[in-house]
Amino acid sequence: MLDIRFATARSASGAVAVVVPSGSPSAALDLLKLGPADLDECATFLEDVEHSGSAGSVHILPRPGRKPSRLLFVGIGDGDESGWRAAGAALARKARAETSLRVLVPQDTPPEAVRGLAEGLWLASYRFRLADDAEPDPLRRVTVALPGGGAPTDSLERALDQARAVVTATVLARDLTNMPSDRKTPAWFARQVVKAAAGVPGLTVEVREPAYLAAQGFNAILAVGRGATTERGPRLVELSWRPRGAKRHVVLVGKGITFDTGGICIKPLSGMKLMRKDMGGAAAVIGATLAAAAMRLPVRVTALTPLAENALSGDSMRPGDVVTHYGGLTSEILNTDAEGRLVLGDAMAYAVRRLRPDVMIDLATLTGAQGVALGKQTAAMYSHSDALAGALAAAAAASGESVWRMPLSEDYAAELGGDLTDLVNSTDIGAGSLLAALYLREFTGSVRDSWAHFDMSSPAWSDANDGELTKGATGWGVRTLTRWLEATAA
Ligand code: BES
Ligand code: MN
Ligand code: ZN
Repeated sequence: MLDIRFATARSASGAVAVVVPSGSPSAALDLLKLGPADLDECATFLEDVEHSGSAGSVHILPRPGRKPSRLLFVGIGDGDESGWRAAGAALARKARAETSLRVLVPQDTPPEAVRGLAEGLWLASYRFRLADDAEPDPLRRVTVALPGGGAPTDSLERALDQARAVVTATVLARDLTNMPSDRKTPAWFARQVVKAAAGVPGLTVEVREPAYLAAQGFNAILAVGRGATTERGPRLVELSWRPRGAKRHVVLVGKGITFDTGGICIKPLSGMKLMRKDMGGAAAVIGATLAAAAMRLPVRVTALTPLAENALSGDSMRPGDVVTHYGGLTSEILNTDAEGRLVLGDAMAYAVRRLRPDVMIDLATLTGAQGVALGKQTAAMYSHSDALAGALAAAAAASGESVWRMPLSEDYAAELGGDLTDLVNSTDIGAGSLLAALYLREFTGSVRDSWAHFDMSSPAWSDANDGELTKGATGWGVRTLTRWLEATAA
């Protein structure tokens, strides 16, 4: 990750960026300690390029042979957190080839601006690397300079720490999700969680293997994972953050299908080729829990990730097979490609019975229908609780992720029943994202009214470098969940 810190000494080498608020480019000039001739040059430049200050717009003034050698004027729009985040992301892209970058900010810069700027810089400069020794970008260090080199207040330092915690977690989620599935087995994912949690006081990890899953009745996780070879067999990971004095317990459940072929109901290549991302929900709940621990939030958080590869073999589950979930609900498998709700059903039933959460939130790349309804960037959110949905929507908006609340329409609930079983895992009536949500609702038991479900199939992945997103895995959900946990703990 980039080294971002507040400037302690003046240094004029390398590139300098100046923030420009919407509609008042002259405010940017006040930050520059330049002589009158240079300031005139800058003012003329800003007029010539018609810099509007809109969030994330950048205009570069080269100054060969002079110091600083390049001035980057970057817009922050209205100066809210999202404007600063866009500015940070734009700078990360435009300054990638610089050796260092100094960002001049006004004296009264608030903490949320620093958080936005740092998150944008860090998230947009993310790149997935298969090997640890891959060549890093030239830009390694960014300093944030207040006028006169003044020391930052504690609240500004804290904002930088919060940004670092949430970005570190998002980077881990992106790395896990980008990893090709030849390496990314359930056991591999579990090892990464163990590594990430090692040495953090208050964090514990349990990794459950197939023998335990069989003994305890996690039959749906086993059914989904049965088509894969033993080395690629299923796991259930429980990562727990237990701070002293916590009053509330939040359980986060994430779908962890390390590759989804569809099973016997095999997907066409077009639908299968990106299915290494089918554990994006698991990656996000692990990330958010690690961020909560890094911030030492006073709320108990348990991340639960059912992990399996939905593979195709002579041992794969078949259409018409019947499984008994953890907790006893039975399900007829009518489509082996509707595997996410199967593994989540087991994990959610376990969470409700054994972990007794005050709130349960699940994240899953659950249906193609989610993207049909809401496009590429917006996740579908389902909840019976207006208060919980409202708080999660607010957290998403503040953190820069997009969600849209969907109705849990009761008139479709009747479709879930089977001839032989409590449930069927697939129906023919469309409304695919809703039906998956209604299926999961059957596993919420006593927390039905304190439960939220995110179908984040589409936003888990970005087709392009776009703002703070790098092409590939986005880590969707880490930011929303972490913000919401921060608000819950406050
Ligand atoms: N992992 C897929 C959903 C998905 C599709 C995620 C596209 C991301 C992008 C899920 O397991 C699946 O296959 N869902 C089926 C459900 C259907 C068989 C009821 C789907 O959406 O087609
Ligand atoms: Mn599937
Ligand atoms: Zn899937």
